[in-house]
Amino acid sequence: MIRAAALLLALAGPAAAQDFAPVYDVLSHPRCANCHVDEAGIPLWSNDDGTTRPHGMNVQAGESRMGIETLPCATCHGTQNNPLPGGAPGAPDWALPPAEMVWAARSAREICEQLKDPERNGGRTLEEVADHVVHDPLVLWGWTPGPGRDPAPGTPEETAAAILAWAEAGSTCP
Ligand code: HEC
Ligand code: HEC
Repeated sequence: MIRAAALLLALAGPAAAQDFAPVYDVLSHPRCANCHVDEAGIPLWSNDDGTTRPHGMNVQAGESRMGIETLPCATCHGTQNNPLPGGAPGAPDWALPPAEMVWAARSAREICEQLKDPERNGGRTLEEVADHVVHDPLVLWGWTPGPGRDPAPGTPEETAAAILAWAEAGSTCP
Protein backbone atom coordinates (compact mmCIF):
# COMPACT_ATOMS: atom_id res chain seq x y z
CA MET A 1 0.00 0.00 0.00
CA ILE A 2 2.70 2.45 1.04
CA ARG A 3 4.66 1.68 -2.09
CA ALA A 4 1.56 2.18 -4.21
CA ALA A 5 0.87 5.53 -2.49
CA ALA A 6 4.46 6.63 -3.01
CA LEU A 7 4.24 5.66 -6.67
CA LEU A 8 1.01 7.60 -7.05
CA LEU A 9 2.60 10.64 -5.41
CA ALA A 10 5.61 10.36 -7.68
CA LEU A 11 3.29 10.20 -10.67
CA ALA A 12 1.04 12.99 -9.40
CA GLY A 13 4.00 15.27 -8.63
CA PRO A 14 5.26 16.11 -12.09
CA ALA A 15 1.77 15.84 -13.62
CA ALA A 16 0.35 18.33 -11.11
CA ALA A 17 3.31 20.63 -11.62
CA GLN A 18 2.62 20.59 -15.35
CA ASP A 19 -0.85 21.91 -14.81
CA PHE A 20 0.60 25.37 -14.29
CA ALA A 21 2.52 25.22 -17.59
CA PRO A 22 -0.22 26.62 -19.86
CA VAL A 23 -0.82 29.46 -17.39
CA TYR A 24 2.90 30.19 -17.20
CA ASP A 25 3.15 30.27 -21.00
CA VAL A 26 0.71 33.18 -21.04
CA LEU A 27 1.89 35.14 -17.99
CA SER A 28 5.55 34.97 -19.03
CA HIS A 29 4.74 36.08 -22.59
CA PRO A 30 6.08 39.56 -23.43
CA ARG A 31 2.54 40.93 -23.99
CA CYS A 32 1.96 40.32 -20.28
CA ALA A 33 5.45 40.42 -18.73
CA ASN A 34 6.49 43.70 -20.44
CA CYS A 35 4.06 45.42 -18.01
CA HIS A 36 4.42 43.03 -15.07
CA VAL A 37 7.86 44.33 -14.03
CA ASP A 38 9.58 44.91 -10.68
CA GLU A 39 9.72 47.89 -8.32
CA ALA A 40 12.15 49.79 -10.56
CA GLY A 41 9.04 50.57 -12.62
CA ILE A 42 10.65 50.46 -16.05
CA PRO A 43 8.36 48.79 -18.62
CA LEU A 44 9.95 46.55 -21.28
CA TRP A 45 10.07 46.71 -25.05
CA SER A 46 10.46 43.58 -27.20
CA ASN A 47 13.27 43.08 -29.69
CA ASP A 48 12.69 41.19 -32.94
CA ASP A 49 14.67 38.20 -31.61
CA GLY A 50 12.29 37.72 -28.66
CA THR A 51 14.56 39.38 -26.07
CA THR A 52 13.53 42.57 -24.28
CA ARG A 53 15.06 45.95 -23.50
CA PRO A 54 14.04 48.80 -21.17
CA HIS A 55 11.27 51.09 -22.49
CA GLY A 56 12.79 54.00 -24.43
CA MET A 57 12.67 57.70 -23.57
CA ASN A 58 13.67 57.04 -19.95
CA VAL A 59 10.10 56.18 -19.01
CA GLN A 60 9.67 55.57 -15.25
CA ALA A 61 6.34 54.46 -13.84
CA GLY A 62 7.22 55.63 -10.32
CA GLU A 63 5.22 54.86 -7.16
CA SER A 64 2.02 55.73 -9.01
CA ARG A 65 2.90 53.04 -11.58
CA MET A 66 1.44 55.48 -14.18
CA GLY A 67 4.34 57.91 -14.47
CA ILE A 68 2.48 60.71 -12.66
CA GLU A 69 5.76 61.76 -11.01
CA THR A 70 7.56 62.27 -14.34
CA LEU A 71 5.78 61.67 -17.64
CA PRO A 72 2.33 60.03 -17.44
CA CYS A 73 1.86 56.89 -19.55
CA ALA A 74 -1.30 58.50 -20.98
CA THR A 75 0.84 61.17 -22.68
CA CYS A 76 1.57 58.55 -25.34
CA HIS A 77 -0.66 55.56 -24.55
CA GLY A 78 -4.28 56.27 -25.47
CA THR A 79 -7.35 54.15 -24.90
CA GLN A 80 -6.72 52.23 -28.13
CA ASN A 81 -3.78 51.11 -30.22
CA ASN A 82 -2.05 53.64 -32.43
CA PRO A 83 -2.52 51.96 -35.83
CA LEU A 84 0.91 53.01 -37.10
CA PRO A 85 3.67 50.39 -36.78
CA GLY A 86 5.95 51.44 -33.91
CA GLY A 87 3.25 53.72 -32.51
CA ALA A 88 2.30 53.45 -28.85
CA PRO A 89 -0.25 50.72 -28.12
CA GLY A 90 -3.24 51.65 -25.98
CA ALA A 91 -6.03 50.51 -23.69
CA PRO A 92 -7.98 52.34 -20.96
CA ASP A 93 -5.92 53.35 -17.90
CA TRP A 94 -2.58 52.16 -19.25
CA ALA A 95 -0.32 51.55 -16.24
CA LEU A 96 2.05 49.07 -14.67
CA PRO A 97 0.69 46.63 -12.08
CA PRO A 98 1.94 46.89 -8.47
CA ALA A 99 5.51 45.61 -8.12
CA GLU A 100 4.49 42.49 -6.17
CA MET A 101 2.80 41.23 -9.36
CA VAL A 102 6.17 41.02 -11.15
CA TRP A 103 6.48 38.24 -13.77
CA ALA A 104 9.34 39.48 -15.97
CA ALA A 105 12.50 37.41 -15.41
CA ARG A 106 10.74 35.27 -12.78
CA SER A 107 10.66 31.45 -12.79
CA ALA A 108 7.47 29.44 -13.29
CA ARG A 109 7.63 28.51 -9.60
CA GLU A 110 7.94 32.13 -8.45
CA ILE A 111 5.05 33.28 -10.65
CA CYS A 112 2.94 30.33 -9.53
CA GLU A 113 3.52 31.02 -5.81
CA GLN A 114 2.67 34.68 -6.05
CA LEU A 115 -0.35 34.22 -8.34
CA LYS A 116 -2.13 32.22 -5.63
CA ASP A 117 -0.96 34.47 -2.77
CA PRO A 118 -3.70 37.05 -1.93
CA GLU A 119 -0.96 39.26 -0.44
CA ARG A 120 0.56 39.55 -3.91
CA ASN A 121 -2.34 39.14 -6.34
CA GLY A 122 -4.52 42.06 -5.28
CA GLY A 123 -6.42 40.06 -2.62
CA ARG A 124 -8.07 37.74 -5.14
CA THR A 125 -9.27 34.16 -4.99
CA LEU A 126 -8.14 32.09 -7.99
CA GLU A 127 -11.70 32.32 -9.36
CA GLU A 128 -11.32 36.11 -9.21
CA VAL A 129 -7.91 35.92 -10.90
CA ALA A 130 -9.50 33.90 -13.74
CA ASP A 131 -12.36 36.41 -13.94
CA HIS A 132 -9.87 39.30 -14.16
CA VAL A 133 -8.25 37.64 -17.19
CA VAL A 134 -11.48 37.62 -19.23
CA HIS A 135 -12.62 41.15 -18.21
CA ASP A 136 -9.73 43.55 -17.59
CA PRO A 137 -8.99 45.81 -20.60
CA LEU A 138 -5.21 45.73 -20.02
CA VAL A 139 -5.19 41.93 -19.93
CA LEU A 140 -7.41 41.71 -23.01
CA TRP A 141 -5.02 44.06 -24.82
CA GLY A 142 -2.44 41.23 -24.60
CA TRP A 143 -4.53 39.36 -27.20
CA THR A 144 -5.22 42.45 -29.36
CA PRO A 145 -1.86 44.23 -29.24
CA GLY A 146 -2.06 45.95 -32.61
CA PRO A 147 0.27 45.87 -35.61
CA GLY A 148 3.73 44.36 -35.33
CA ARG A 149 3.22 42.62 -31.97
CA ASP A 150 2.66 38.91 -31.35
CA PRO A 151 -0.44 38.32 -29.21
CA ALA A 152 -0.24 36.23 -26.05
CA PRO A 153 -0.80 32.47 -26.73
CA GLY A 154 -4.33 31.01 -26.90
CA THR A 155 -7.31 33.10 -25.83
CA PRO A 156 -8.44 34.85 -22.61
CA GLU A 157 -11.10 32.14 -22.13
CA GLU A 158 -8.57 29.31 -22.51
CA THR A 159 -6.28 31.05 -20.03
CA ALA A 160 -9.09 31.47 -17.48
CA ALA A 161 -10.02 27.78 -17.96
CA ALA A 162 -6.37 26.77 -17.42
CA ILE A 163 -6.25 28.82 -14.19
CA LEU A 164 -9.44 27.18 -12.92
CA ALA A 165 -8.23 23.67 -13.87
CA TRP A 166 -4.93 24.30 -12.08
CA ALA A 167 -6.84 25.62 -9.03
CA GLU A 168 -9.11 22.57 -8.99
CA ALA A 169 -6.12 20.23 -9.23
CA GLY A 170 -4.79 21.79 -6.01
CA SER A 171 -2.85 24.76 -7.46
CA THR A 172 0.49 23.02 -6.99
CA CYS A 173 3.60 24.80 -8.21
CA PRO A 174 6.41 23.41 -10.40
C1 HEC B 1 -0.48 47.79 -19.82
C2 HEC B 1 0.05 47.01 -18.73
C3 HEC B 1 -0.46 45.61 -18.51
C4 HEC B 1 -0.44 44.57 -19.41
C5 HEC B 1 0.03 44.60 -20.85
C6 HEC B 1 -0.92 43.41 -18.71
N1 HEC B 1 -1.26 43.74 -17.42
FE1 HEC B 1 -1.95 42.46 -15.99
N2 HEC B 1 -2.11 44.00 -14.69
C7 HEC B 1 -1.89 45.33 -14.99
C8 HEC B 1 -2.32 46.17 -13.86
C9 HEC B 1 -2.28 47.67 -13.79
C10 HEC B 1 -2.78 45.26 -12.88
C11 HEC B 1 -3.32 45.60 -11.49
C12 HEC B 1 -4.83 45.62 -11.58
C13 HEC B 1 -5.52 45.24 -10.31
O1 HEC B 1 -4.93 44.60 -9.44
O2 HEC B 1 -6.72 45.52 -10.23
C14 HEC B 1 -2.65 43.92 -13.44
C15 HEC B 1 -3.02 42.76 -12.76
C16 HEC B 1 -3.16 41.53 -13.35
C17 HEC B 1 -3.70 40.34 -12.71
C18 HEC B 1 -4.22 40.26 -11.28
C19 HEC B 1 -3.09 40.17 -10.31
C20 HEC B 1 -2.46 38.84 -10.21
O3 HEC B 1 -1.22 38.78 -10.14
O4 HEC B 1 -3.18 37.83 -10.22
C21 HEC B 1 -3.69 39.34 -13.62
C22 HEC B 1 -4.14 37.91 -13.43
C23 HEC B 1 -3.15 39.90 -14.85
N3 HEC B 1 -2.83 41.22 -14.65
C24 HEC B 1 -3.01 39.18 -16.01
C25 HEC B 1 -2.43 39.68 -17.17
C26 HEC B 1 -2.23 38.89 -18.38
C27 HEC B 1 -2.62 37.44 -18.53
C28 HEC B 1 -1.68 39.73 -19.31
C29 HEC B 1 -1.30 39.41 -20.73
C30 HEC B 1 -2.27 38.72 -21.56
C31 HEC B 1 -1.53 41.03 -18.66
N4 HEC B 1 -1.98 40.96 -17.37
C32 HEC B 1 -1.02 42.15 -19.28
C33 HEC B 1 -1.30 45.83 -16.13
C34 HEC B 1 -1.02 45.08 -17.27
C1 HEC C 1 6.87 59.43 -24.72
C2 HEC C 1 5.87 58.45 -25.09
C3 HEC C 1 5.63 57.28 -24.15
C4 HEC C 1 5.40 57.31 -22.79
C5 HEC C 1 5.34 58.51 -21.85
C6 HEC C 1 5.18 55.94 -22.38
N1 HEC C 1 5.27 55.09 -23.45
FE1 HEC C 1 5.11 53.09 -23.45
N2 HEC C 1 5.47 53.01 -25.45
C7 HEC C 1 5.66 54.12 -26.26
C8 HEC C 1 5.82 53.68 -27.65
C9 HEC C 1 6.04 54.56 -28.86
C10 HEC C 1 5.76 52.27 -27.61
C11 HEC C 1 5.90 51.30 -28.79
C12 HEC C 1 7.34 50.97 -28.97
C13 HEC C 1 7.56 49.83 -29.94
O1 HEC C 1 6.75 48.92 -29.96
O2 HEC C 1 8.56 49.86 -30.65
C14 HEC C 1 5.55 51.89 -26.23
C15 HEC C 1 5.44 50.59 -25.79
C16 HEC C 1 5.18 50.22 -24.47
C17 HEC C 1 5.11 48.86 -24.00
C18 HEC C 1 5.39 47.62 -24.84
C19 HEC C 1 4.17 46.88 -25.22
C20 HEC C 1 4.58 45.57 -25.83
O3 HEC C 1 4.41 44.54 -25.17
O4 HEC C 1 5.04 45.56 -26.96
C21 HEC C 1 4.80 48.90 -22.69
C22 HEC C 1 4.62 47.72 -21.76
C23 HEC C 1 4.69 50.28 -22.31
N3 HEC C 1 4.95 51.06 -23.42
C24 HEC C 1 4.38 50.72 -21.05
C25 HEC C 1 4.37 52.06 -20.68
C26 HEC C 1 4.03 52.52 -19.36
C27 HEC C 1 3.56 51.63 -18.23
C28 HEC C 1 4.19 53.87 -19.36
C29 HEC C 1 4.04 54.84 -18.20
C30 HEC C 1 4.83 54.51 -17.01
C31 HEC C 1 4.63 54.26 -20.70
N4 HEC C 1 4.72 53.12 -21.46
C32 HEC C 1 4.92 55.54 -21.08
C33 HEC C 1 5.66 55.42 -25.87
C34 HEC C 1 5.53 55.89 -24.57
